[in-house]
Amino acid sequence: MSTVIDGRKTAAEVVEKVKALTADLAAKGVSAPGLGVVPGLAVVIVGEDPASQVYVANKSRTAKECGFHSVQHTLATDTGEADLLKLIGELNADPAIHGILVQLPLPGHIDSSKVIQAIAPEKDVDGFTYVNVGKLGAGEAATAFVPCTPAGSMLLIERVRGRDLSGLNAVVIGRSNIVGKPMANLLLAANCTVTVAHSRTKDLAALARTADILVAAVGRPEMVKGDWVKPGATVIDVGINRIPAPEKGEGRTRLVGDVDYAQAAEVAGAITPVPGGVGPMTIAMLMANTVVSACLAAG
Ligand code: GUN
Repeated sequence: MSTVIDGRKTAAEVVEKVKALTADLAAKGVSAPGLGVVPGLAVVIVGEDPASQVYVANKSRTAKECGFHSVQHTLATDTGEADLLKLIGELNADPAIHGILVQLPLPGHIDSSKVIQAIAPEKDVDGFTYVNVGKLGAGEAATAFVPCTPAGSMLLIERVRGRDLSGLNAVVIGRSNIVGKPMANLLLAANCTVTVAHSRTKDLAALARTADILVAAVGRPEMVKGDWVKPGATVIDVGINRIPAPEKGEGRTRLVGDVDYAQAAEVAGAITPVPGGVGPMTIAMLMANTVVSACLAAG
């Protein structure tokens, strides 16, 4: 049986560090004696997607727990692109805000790329602007904001495999801008041999079986089966899918990942559960990026 990678525990450790840094910043007296900097995070949600509402509420709550100035902008589904861009402009100019997050997906009538690219790169704690994407791609992650889910996944991988991942075979299933591509870049920066698989990949199961580190980020419930997993591999399941659970009663649902956990746990060396694996890390890394942004702003 494999080691269960406890994302809640690691996330709680990251949040404790963020709280300590926040307290340091507050005590420092940056702009005047006794007048420290309070990290400010603005979270913007447009529309009423239930999953997004839960994620955003968790982000705002954790920001408050960390001692941040936490602001949530909840906008109606029919909000115009121009109004959203205006809000981004105001947040860019607001010295009390160090991090801006626009929850994705946005409603179809809004050009997501235009909105994301309007965020000032130094406040882009999601790491989605071209400046931050480019730095990561150019091997300069140390000076970039790295997207939270892949950054958190790397931390979990390092927890079980140590910091030296050199020469390991990594397979990332999924090529999204939010997870797959930045994850591949981080693994590459850690000297892994990286393959990015996607819906057109041929014989995905055989490819997955070559992976010492297997990352599943496709959004397809329990797609990765036990016989896709190399014995001893580290399996990172980024998927969060809600599926019907008739065994729990009429109309009930349950959360599953992109990996068939019961099967994969028989073969893997270590595996993240869903829930309680990568999910909590995403929020913790958002807090980490925001406090770093506040530290940089404080000079
Ligand atoms: N939607 C799903 N994951 C994310 C994320 O990490 N950031 C934002 N902004 N939206 C998301």
